[in-house]
Amino acid sequence: MKIKDIVCGILLVSSLPVFAQKNATIEVYADQASQIIPKEIYGQFAEHLGSCIYGGLWVGEDSDIPNIKGYRKDVFEALKELSVPVMRWPGGCFAVKYRWGGGVGPKAQRPKLTNITWGGTIEDNSFGTNEFLNLCEMLGCEPYISGNVGSGTVEELAAWVEYMTSDDDTPMANLRRKNGREKPWKVKYLGIGNESWGCGGNMEPEYYSSLYRRYQTYCCNFSGNKLYKIASGASDYNYDWTKVLMKNVGDKMQGLSLHYYTVGEWNHKGSALDFNNDEYYATIGKCLEVESVIEKHSAIMDKYDKDKKIGLILDEWGTWWDVEPGTDPGHLFQQNTMRDALVASLSLDVFNRHTDRLKMTNIAQVVNVLQSMILTKGDKMLLTPTYYIFKMYKVHQDAIYVPAEVKCDHIKDFKDRDISLVSTTVSKKDGVMHISLSNADLKDSEKISINIPGVEINSIKGEILTSKNIADHNTFEVSDKIQLEKFEEYKLKNDVLVVKLPAKSIVTLELK
Ligand code: AHR
Repeated sequence: MKIKDIVCGILLVSSLPVFAQKNATIEVYADQASQIIPKEIYGQFAEHLGSCIYGGLWVGEDSDIPNIKGYRKDVFEALKELSVPVMRWPGGCFAVKYRWGGGVGPKAQRPKLTNITWGGTIEDNSFGTNEFLNLCEMLGCEPYISGNVGSGTVEELAAWVEYMTSDDDTPMANLRRKNGREKPWKVKYLGIGNESWGCGGNMEPEYYSSLYRRYQTYCCNFSGNKLYKIASGASDYNYDWTKVLMKNVGDKMQGLSLHYYTVGEWNHKGSALDFNNDEYYATIGKCLEVESVIEKHSAIMDKYDKDKKIGLILDEWGTWWDVEPGTDPGHLFQQNTMRDALVASLSLDVFNRHTDRLKMTNIAQVVNVLQSMILTKGDKMLLTPTYYIFKMYKVHQDAIYVPAEVKCDHIKDFKDRDISLVSTTVSKKDGVMHISLSNADLKDSEKISINIPGVEINSIKGEILTSKNIADHNTFEVSDKIQLEKFEEYKLKNDVLVVKLPAKSIVTLELK
């Protein structure tokens, strides 16, 4: 089912009145709900890049920073709160150079390596397969292993799958036992390569298709484990890649990946903190463009896979700004403001309405890299505005999507892209309905009348994420400037819920 939220009037940014209130309506079609929003839409991505792993997820058992068996305690506990459904690892471009064999066994014997792609940092391999899969178990999330097709071998990838998942009496399973893990892990998601058109080997789609067919042949299902194999897909607008892959390998994959970043479209990526209103709206325009990108890749997939058996897997998305001044350019450490929070909520709204084809997404990345949930500096940590969106939206994981039609004002960004100022996700689960609402307008509040016929409502609760300025963010000094707060600006009369949503804010309401 494809539901498109509908557009009303178009305004120009410059014609907006100052601090006015706009009116919007939302029609909720609770009786048409059927599609489940897979929890994997809320997935994360962790790469050996900058301080995502070392200093972020992992500090080692001997660290002065409080840890649980080497995993950073404050970060672990914050992630546990998010109900992370799936985590992709070890990259990205790191994955296509990764030799997993160096990251298992006694730590003192693990070889060091230069992380060529990401700043030439020396990697000591102390966080490897066991550490990652144990973390996933502790978090209760599915691991998504990104395999090395770029510089690895078929034998290496096949052996890795066996090491992780086989319970047989074989050298690989016995190596795992020797390394302290008796029972195999369950590993469902296996990526066969990453960005094979770029850092993953600079291949042509035809060549990669043949390699994919070969590699996947030897990635076997051991001991009841069932792999969901994901082919390395296109970036952004490369529809030809999707076409060739679907044509040549559609019968051998369960998922096909896609990468889409919200980057600044001026002559540099742009600062995470210092941006003007035009740049803000251009960011929102670029972020919302992911919808047409998903639709176009999906339409190609539909031609080869009418029954929608193959999942589109958006395994890298998010904002990509210039690195924070004074930090290593190869470490992609960036701050995170209310603008990023709106990119997160609006993107998740888009994803939630395309789950007929889109089966997983992984925001880049979980800690200290790009649009992170969490930032750390030494023993300090902060939760970003994006973290709070994921916290607020976790109610939609595995809930039933409820179609909703939005009528509101629209504006155009500098590329003439249409921006709907109000966005929503409505879902229901176990007799509870959740309505998430975003107001992307920088100045005006929105009075939203939500028509919800045929739903009995006895109680309502709400949470809001907002701040005075769009560039507001949490810092290591003031880490609680932006956080979720109680929201009570709503009134229910008959079947209509009227909500007053401040400018640049995101709300989730629980209706019981
Ligand atoms: O997320 C950062 C990088 O972006 C990944 O390593 C790569 O796959 C993509 O180009």
